[in-house]
Amino acid sequence: MTLTAPKPLLLTAAVVLAYAVCALSLKVCPNCGSTPVPYPLSTAPDCGDQLYKIRCNAGSLFFDSVNNTYPITSISPSIQRLTISPAPFLGNTCIASDLPSNGLQLNSSAPFNITGSNTIFYLNCSANIMNSPLNCTSNSLCHVYINGTAGSGCVDAPLCCAFRAGGSTTAYRIRVRDSGCKAYRSFVNLDYGLPVSRWPPPGVELLWVLPIEPTCRTQGDCDSKSTCGPDPNSAGGVSRCFCNSGLQWDPVAGLCATECKDPDGCGKDRTGLIAGLIVGIGVALLAVLIAFLFYKRHQRIKREQDRLTREREEILNYGGGKSAKVFTGKQIKKATNYFSKDNLLGAGGYGEVYKGILEDGTVVAVKCAKLGNTKGTDQVLNEVRILCQVNHKCLVGLLGCCVELEQPLLVYEYVSNGTLLDNLQGGTRGLLSWNHRLSIAHATAEGLAYLHFSAVPPIYHRDVKSSNILLDEKLKAKVSDFGLSRLAHTDLSHVSTCAQGTLGYLDPEYYRNYQLTDKSDVYSFGVVLLELLTSQKAIDFNRPQDDVNLAVYVQRLVEEERIMDAVDPMLKEGSSTLELETMKALGFLAVGCLEERRQNRPSMKEVAEEIEYIISIATAKTTD
Ligand SMILES: *[C@@H]1O[C@H](CO)[C@@H](O)[C@H](O)[C@H]1NC(C)=O
Ligand SMILES: *[C@@H]1O[C@H](CO)[C@@H](O)[C@H](O)[C@H]1NC(C)=O
Ligand SMILES: *[C@@H]1O[C@H](CO)[C@@H](O)[C@H](O)[C@H]1NC(C)=O
Ligand SMILES: *[C@@H]1O[C@H](CO)[C@@H](O)[C@H](O)[C@H]1NC(C)=O
Ligand SMILES: *[C@@H]1O[C@H](CO)[C@@H](O)[C@H](O)[C@H]1NC(C)=O
Ligand SMILES: *[C@@H]1O[C@H](CO)[C@@H](O)[C@H](O)[C@H]1NC(C)=O
Repeated sequence: MTLTAPKPLLLTAAVVLAYAVCALSLKVCPNCGSTPVPYPLSTAPDCGDQLYKIRCNAGSLFFDSVNNTYPITSISPSIQRLTISPAPFLGNTCIASDLPSNGLQLNSSAPFNITGSNTIFYLNCSANIMNSPLNCTSNSLCHVYINGTAGSGCVDAPLCCAFRAGGSTTAYRIRVRDSGCKAYRSFVNLDYGLPVSRWPPPGVELLWVLPIEPTCRTQGDCDSKSTCGPDPNSAGGVSRCFCNSGLQWDPVAGLCATECKDPDGCGKDRTGLIAGLIVGIGVALLAVLIAFLFYKRHQRIKREQDRLTREREEILNYGGGKSAKVFTGKQIKKATNYFSKDNLLGAGGYGEVYKGILEDGTVVAVKCAKLGNTKGTDQVLNEVRILCQVNHKCLVGLLGCCVELEQPLLVYEYVSNGTLLDNLQGGTRGLLSWNHRLSIAHATAEGLAYLHFSAVPPIYHRDVKSSNILLDEKLKAKVSDFGLSRLAHTDLSHVSTCAQGTLGYLDPEYYRNYQLTDKSDVYSFGVVLLELLTSQKAIDFNRPQDDVNLAVYVQRLVEEERIMDAVDPMLKEGSSTLELETMKALGFLAVGCLEERRQNRPSMKEVAEEIEYIISIATAKTTD
């Protein structure tokens, strides 16, 4: 038997040996030209994870879609994202060069999808696209783009539409076709406030799913830190290299690593590197001076932090509710096991959310906002204090800015029952009775009314949607994530790209003046009411084309005087006439919230009062 290790493998080993301090892996692919190919991306059969194939050609990386190939322009392994350059226009026309194969289409069984960070314009559309849920009106952002790129072929193609990707169908494809739109442009993390000339080059950001342990046939396929064994989660007799005891699969690095106990002893920390450099240069004196300055700075920061902590605890406790506590970065790191990937509950436009267990056993959710500055901290403080007041039972308050992490952290009570969206779409939808739904609607409306009318200054949520409404074990609603979008928009123009609302919930007037007001929250809340009433998704491409947008769909039924046809049949079943009347009443209230013109929509206070009234009717019935 001849076992010749392929050349690239040896190369990789050498490269990795040169850098690795903690752990060693043979699985990372060699650089492509000068571009590193992070795990699990694979450019060859003997490295990376074969599910994550990309191509290295003449020193450049390419991504193969189902029918096409696109250059990869950047890769961010720590957040599992890569950006590809979309197909160019054909010559001087407004036709995409991938039009013949219907645009960008990903293999939906491969572990890549298109992220919600992409703002996409469909260009050179035919008129029949106009009744889609996309915004194809003459003041949509794609017209700003066309106007800003005079000379491009698209100036003469007046029909275009704008939307954000990442919905259920746009997760895998950006479709162009002869009978629809003939070209597209996509921009990653687009800051709508910038003039077109300062927009980034076009790109489509893709996300990859974190890989599980690599497959193996024999122990020889695994390294010394793992053992080849059958995968209990897969039926087909697949074996994988499972990490030996004491070690843990690190899907980002693609190796078995010791759990990191000491934050300063683990590869990622820079202090070691900096110290090494200084010693290397041999300027010992400088090191002493720097150490001294660091020490002074550290002391100053610590004093400042202690002061802030005290002040914050005072403010937090002032508002009533359960007493709040401010945590240090150390405590939070410990609670979340050093932000271990195992504790990652999810990642959204505003940052990542980790599950944590405090020393007293309280389970919390810790949110790392994607903000690099401390200026936002006081606003964060505001938001969380209000969270405490709205929810009365809030267990924990907030950590201000953790200097070590340079990120503001929010600590929320960990709400175990998932979001309203999960509960409306999962198999548990039958558990949400009409009374539950009314009380969820009421609690949410009250929370929002509080933000609008009692907070000083008023806070607009800006992203009201069923996935931002958390349900506790008693199915009581808690509004989350409010005000964060404003935070993200204050002064960090380079990160101020977070979604301004979500497709399907977004106030149509936003496109007229790019302003979100309290009435925008009312609009989005109207959509949530419809979800409660219908158990349907705000945007669902499985509905007939004209009905994809839930708001449009229900408004049509209302015009046809068939509002009850929209109500979830499971809810209607066995309901009394009076209950059916309250459903109808909530439906009309929702439609009122969805009024095209802001001034015609009720205020959040009025909405909350109306729901209270509807509840009083519904409960009057039960006491009969
Ligand atoms: C728009 O697409 C059509 C093909 O359907 C093409 O004939 C036309 O030239 C395109 N418009 C522009 C401005 O390129
Ligand atoms: C794209 O690929 C799919 C699957 O391989 C194939 O069925 C389809 O015909 C291709 N489309 C075009 C336009 O080439
Ligand atoms: C899509 O991916 C699956 C699994 O990776 C593969 O079996 C299949 O052939 C791919 N389909 C296309 C059209 O590339
Ligand atoms: C188009 O751009 C010009 C400047 O290039 C600007 O004056 C004009 O207002 C823009 N029109 C629209 C509709 O945005
Ligand atoms: C894309 O993939 C990620 C990772 O599996 C997943 O969390 C996300 O929901 C997917 N997005 C869509 C729109 O399917
Ligand atoms: C698109 O924006 C325009 C202008 O603000 C608005 O009138 C229209 O209702 C919006 N359409 C959709 C589908 O959101």
